[in-house]
Amino acid sequence: MPTNRAAWQDEAGIKLSIRSTAYETEVAANQILVKVQAWAINPCDHMLQDVALPFVKYPVILGEDIAGTVVSTGSSAATRFRPDDCVLAFAKGTTGGPTMGGFQEYVIVDADTASPIPKWISFAEASVFPLAIYSSAHALFSSQMLGLPLPRVGKTESDSGKYLLVWGGSSVLGSNAIQMARAAELDVLSTASERNFVHVKKLGANKVFDYSSESVVDDIVAELDSRDPGLCVGIFHAAGNVEPCLQIAAKTKGSPFVVSSGPVPEDKVPSGVRAKMVFGDQDDIVCKIYGDFLPRALAERRYVVAPEPLIIQTKGLEGIQEGYEVLKKGVSARKVVVEAE
Ligand SMILES: NC(=O)c1ccc[n+]([C@@H]2O[C@H](COP(=O)([O-])OP(=O)(O)OC[C@H]3O[C@@H](n4cnc5c(N)ncnc54)[C@H](OP(=O)(O)O)[C@@H]3O)[C@@H](O)[C@H]2O)c1
Repeated sequence: MPTNRAAWQDEAGIKLSIRSTAYETEVAANQILVKVQAWAINPCDHMLQDVALPFVKYPVILGEDIAGTVVSTGSSAATRFRPDDCVLAFAKGTTGGPTMGGFQEYVIVDADTASPIPKWISFAEASVFPLAIYSSAHALFSSQMLGLPLPRVGKTESDSGKYLLVWGGSSVLGSNAIQMARAAELDVLSTASERNFVHVKKLGANKVFDYSSESVVDDIVAELDSRDPGLCVGIFHAAGNVEPCLQIAAKTKGSPFVVSSGPVPEDKVPSGVRAKMVFGDQDDIVCKIYGDFLPRALAERRYVVAPEPLIIQTKGLEGIQEGYEVLKKGVSARKVVVEAE
């Protein structure tokens, strides 16, 4: 019987403790057990190291982004996955209990939020996707959020003239939102630092604005107002401060709905503006993206790994605390990744 180890967050305000944990082989019908080969780190992981939130019970095994090989499957998951398949998967680091937290060597995940990895993608590259896909798919396509038409593999050209503003296009969320919006046949306007304009354009953004420019809000409003206001399908605030997006929504003629990756302070929302935070729900739409769109788009190389992984030198769970420190200092168009071996 293999042993299992995890990076435990015993309470907020202290570093991770690497120690053994249960090797759980009992999986429910729609779950799979994965041996992890690479973990990626998200801002919420290091935030929950520093600050306790009421919905997280410590000690906890955090971590949402994993890639690895399937060890075993439940009965219904067996229709999609077999032992030894290479997969990427969303792990329920904050809500699923200790067997489902990502930062351990063996993780149980829902098959609905796992996708096979084609041979051209390494485990480190694949680990970039899970939470970014989960949250940006929910933000863009779920009916409670922007409710956009679903992406289709091979489609990138818009003939409808409809477009989405993705604020923070070089972030992990933004890089994936742009690709999915393009596959949903939308034009994309975006923002990034000037050094990342090429990155964001390569992903399919039609026009990119420097978010640090003093005139960025007015420049974007002028761009939006030069188009038919009815064609703007919304604003996805992927990174940074939400306020410029709220100002754009207030000033432009089309009153686009703002969906944000972060909290939207009520007192900052101008009258007449609709704005909401996305809090990735595992609804049918997200499962469709994991089950249909992403596997095909990756297999056909219609979807690229973005942003690139920034691989931490220390391998194994011991590298995760180091990864936290790197991410805390800030990254630009990169995703912090730790390889298992
Ligand atoms: N609600 C949810 O379900 C959910 C899920 C995942 C993440 N999040 C949140 O979403 C945010 C993004 O996460 P992530 O992992 O994608 O972040 P990330 O990639 O680590 O963020 C770094 C990127 O953000 C960009 N950025 C920084 N300040 C910006 C600003 N003022 N305007 C526009 N872009 C800016 C940087 O762009 P440049 O380098 O080009 O300057 C950089 O590429 C975080 O706040 C995270 O906590 C929420």
